[in-house]
Amino acid sequence: MTIPSALIERLATAKSVSVLTGAGVSAESGVPTFRDSQTGFWSKFRPEDLATARGFKRDPKMVWEWYDWRRKMVLDAEPNAGHRALAEMESIFPEFHLITQNIDSLHQRAGSKKVIELHGNISKTKCFEENTPIERWAETGDVPPKCPRCGGMLRPDVVWFEEPMPMNEFRQAVGATECDVFLVVGTSSLVYPAAELPLEAARNGAMVVEINTTMTELTEQVQFHVDGASGVVLPALIQAVRSAREQILK
Ligand code: OAD
Repeated sequence: MTIPSALIERLATAKSVSVLTGAGVSAESGVPTFRDSQTGFWSKFRPEDLATARGFKRDPKMVWEWYDWRRKMVLDAEPNAGHRALAEMESIFPEFHLITQNIDSLHQRAGSKKVIELHGNISKTKCFEENTPIERWAETGDVPPKCPRCGGMLRPDVVWFEEPMPMNEFRQAVGATECDVFLVVGTSSLVYPAAELPLEAARNGAMVVEINTTMTELTEQVQFHVDGASGVVLPALIQAVRSAREQILK
C-alpha cells in the first residue's frame, strides 16, 4: 500500500471532506460483501429473489428470514479499524460527510455521529403496504410479522433494487459532493445512483480517491487509487495527515 503524498498534502489543508463507503469497509468485521465470487452474499443467493419487492411478494417468509439472519450477523460483528478511522475523521476536518451504502450500523457503532444512509438500515422495519416505519409489533408467530396498523406484512427498512433511494438522504449526499476531497472506500461502484456521486464530486472540482482491494469500474476515473484494505489504509492515512498538519503548524 502506498498513500500518494499529494493526497496527504491535500487532506492536511482540506476544509471539506466527504466519504462514500460500501460493503468492503465491513469485510474486515466478518460481514461478507455482495459481489465476491467466493464469499459474497450474491454468490449464494439471487439478488432479484431476496432484494426486490417482487421477490418479497413471491416468498415473503424466505426474504424476512434472510434479513433476520443478516441482522443477527451484523449484530454479532464488531466495527473495525477502518470504521473507527472514519469516525475519527469527523473531528479532524471542519466539514465532514460520511455517506454509506451499508445497512449494518457499524459506522454508528464505531462512533460516527452523522451517517447518511443511502440504502436504509437493517435494524429498522417498515410496513410493506403503507411504507411507514414500524417500531413495535405483536409476536404472533407470523413470518413476516403483521403491521399493527393495517395488518399488512412488515419488511426490513432497506432499499431494494428497483426502489428509489430516500429523497432526503440522497439530497444530502449530492450536497456532500461539494467538497475538497471525496474518498470512495470499499465499493464496487456498480450500483447507481450511489456510483454517480464520485463523478459528481469530480465535476465539482474535488480530488476523488478510491481505496479498495481491487480495481473497479470507477478506478479509471479517479485521481488516485490506493490499493489496500480499508482497515489498514484509513488508519495510516489519518496518521499521515495528522503528522503533515503538525509540520504545517510548526
Ligand atoms: P460490493 O460487494 O459490490 O463491493 C465491495 C467492494 O469492496 C469490492 O470492490 C471489493 O473489492 C471491496 N473490498 C473488499 N474488501 C475490502 C477491504 N477490506 N477494504 C477495501 N475494499 C474492500 O458492495 P457494494 O459496492 O457496497 O445494495 O454494493 C453496493 C450495493 O449493491 C449494496 O448496497 C447492495 C448491493 O447489492 C442492495 O442490496 C440494494
